[in-house]
Amino acid sequence: MKNAALNILRRIIHSGIKSSESENANRLEFILHKYNSYKEYVRVQSEGNKEKLDLTWVVEENIDYLSEYLLGELGYVEKGICHGTRRGQEQKWFSEKLNADVFGTEISDTACSFPKTLQWDFHEVKEEWLGQFDFIYSNSFDHSYDPQKCLNSWMSCLKSGGLCIIEHSSLHTPKGVTELDPFGVSLEYFPYLVLSWAKGAYFVTDILDAPNHNTELLEYFKESIDYLKFFVIRKAS
Ligand SMILES: C[S@@+](CC[C@H](N)C(=O)[O-])C[C@H]1O[C@@H](n2cnc3c(N)ncnc32)[C@H](O)[C@@H]1O
Repeated sequence: MKNAALNILRRIIHSGIKSSESENANRLEFILHKYNSYKEYVRVQSEGNKEKLDLTWVVEENIDYLSEYLLGELGYVEKGICHGTRRGQEQKWFSEKLNADVFGTEISDTACSFPKTLQWDFHEVKEEWLGQFDFIYSNSFDHSYDPQKCLNSWMSCLKSGGLCIIEHSSLHTPKGVTELDPFGVSLEYFPYLVLSWAKGAYFVTDILDAPNHNTELLEYFKESIDYLKFFVIRKAS
């Protein structure tokens, strides 16, 4: 791997640990960093995206695993969305493995450099997306400025019984909150938040252990994560 990319990853890991709100973070169930304006949110996310543009966090082995899972649960997958995709690897791998039409959203104007990537804020929904998709995947939920609005938007795009898969690792807890990663929640508290937001419209139905915890990459930096899981949230029929 190129040195530049490794240095960027080192900064990501350390910025996650040095949250401005981290003093009490170990005792908190969730933290939501507040921006002064929407313009500030877009600027912070776009700058973060450009700083890490050479990096891909998502791992192909995990997308293989999730593709098998989706086929097992749904039988047939026609259409999906991946949210917050930077280089767009996840939509490429899902498309290939599921033989499905999958695109990604990315808030930064770098979106136009990557195939099947739409420059779009994932909190918003296009009318024609409502109820149309078999699955949604994201490892960027921690970048939401309003996770309740965000999850409700994502779930509105699924067909009845469709699945939303959200990556959650120990880097996504309150102690990982930064200006760039505004939402952090404990593993145990996340299902409670989902329950309180859903009001019966969707449910956490599975918590999967990722087969690949990105340990190779993390070991290089003498870092580790305690866990890497996928929350599976199913839209009610
Ligand atoms: C943690 S990175 C993950 C990138 C990619 N999924 C990967 O695995 O390498 C989060 C990405 O989400 C993008 N992002 C942040 N907020 C977003 C939003 N509201 N809508 C769409 N994309 C967003 C960021 O610009 C960044 O590229």
